[in-house]
Amino acid sequence: MLINLLRLLPPETAHQITIKLLKSSLSISRKKIEQYNALKQTILGIDFVNPIGLAAGFDKNAEVIKSMLSYGFGFVEVGTITPKSQKGNQKPRVFRLKEDEAIINHLGFNNSGSEKILKNLRSFYENEYLSGVVGINIGKNKTTENDIDDYIYCIDKLGNYGNYITINISSPNTPGLRDLQLRGRIENLVKKIQKKQNEVEQLNNKPIFIKISPDLEDEQLRDIALMSLANNVNGLIISNSTLKRPNSLISIFKNELGGLSGKPIFIDSTLILKKMYSLTNGQIPLIGVGGISNGNECYEKIKAGASLVQLYTALVYQGPQVISKIIRELNGLVLTDGYKNISEAIGKSS
Ligand SMILES: Cc1cc2nc3c(=O)[nH]c(=O)nc-3n(C[C@H](O)[C@H](O)[C@H](O)COP(=O)(O)O)c2cc1C
Repeated sequence: MLINLLRLLPPETAHQITIKLLKSSLSISRKKIEQYNALKQTILGIDFVNPIGLAAGFDKNAEVIKSMLSYGFGFVEVGTITPKSQKGNQKPRVFRLKEDEAIINHLGFNNSGSEKILKNLRSFYENEYLSGVVGINIGKNKTTENDIDDYIYCIDKLGNYGNYITINISSPNTPGLRDLQLRGRIENLVKKIQKKQNEVEQLNNKPIFIKISPDLEDEQLRDIALMSLANNVNGLIISNSTLKRPNSLISIFKNELGGLSGKPIFIDSTLILKKMYSLTNGQIPLIGVGGISNGNECYEKIKAGASLVQLYTALVYQGPQVISKIIRELNGLVLTDGYKNISEAIGKSS
């Protein structure tokens, strides 16, 4: 009902209202969800009550972590956060492709900046909070000259306030950002981050995930896999939104500028997830993201090699109740296949 009303508003206005409403809304879904023992896993030393996380971009400023955990998410990734606040690109910059169950956005890392978001994270931990995993997704400011300095700055400042850190080098809306995925540059970035982690004791045990684009060629995927294995990268998130426009799109907004997310990216993002699982010999935890809207698609990502999954666009079309629905479906699928725990299904179709 409310979701239908929100959909009458421009996407960004609807998002702002949603965040306001969520700030004062807690769901009772979580208690039930915590009983699904087959979905519990410990990955990189972190306990996840279920494998479904909120993808970056929904809670850019870490304002609704508690609420999203209460709806049942096993983890919430906040951000992308940049050192300084920035407004992002000119509006309109978010488009709903309703007929395609997709979104195109060219927001450009609009966020309140590390200082303000640090305060939000502190207040989340200071107030009574639901146990749950928080990921801190970081990026660079648009006008920064030295990209690496921005990542190091954010890790130093915010790294201690999350269970893991995501290095976002795959958003399509910050000029030059995706070039950080190039061989050599990505390795340099990883080495500098690890050096920082070694210098700061509290950051030492924070796993680092690198979030990659679904538009990478096979050779680039191989380079990233080899670099990750050689440098003990903790995990990879596959994937961000795509610059491609599948022929299947029918919405009038299909040629808008920016990254496409939602249903039309499910197949391609799952394919590169599968490739990466095989290139890394299943040795590196992968988070599968892209086009998940039901339990079955979630299970497909797991079987393709994901240890965890995330979603965003389905939330826009189905509202936060979608989480408990997906979790229930996923639990059923795991048990029907005769597994005691979801971890037994990881990579089973690869
Ligand atoms: C409006 C919007 C904003 C996003 N902002 C970010 C962001 O700031 N950082 C990031 O890493 N990914 C961002 N994403 C990408 C999502 O985290 C996710 O990788 C992508 O949407 C694919 O998942 P989905 O099909 O379930 O939406 C954004 C996606 C959308 C739709």
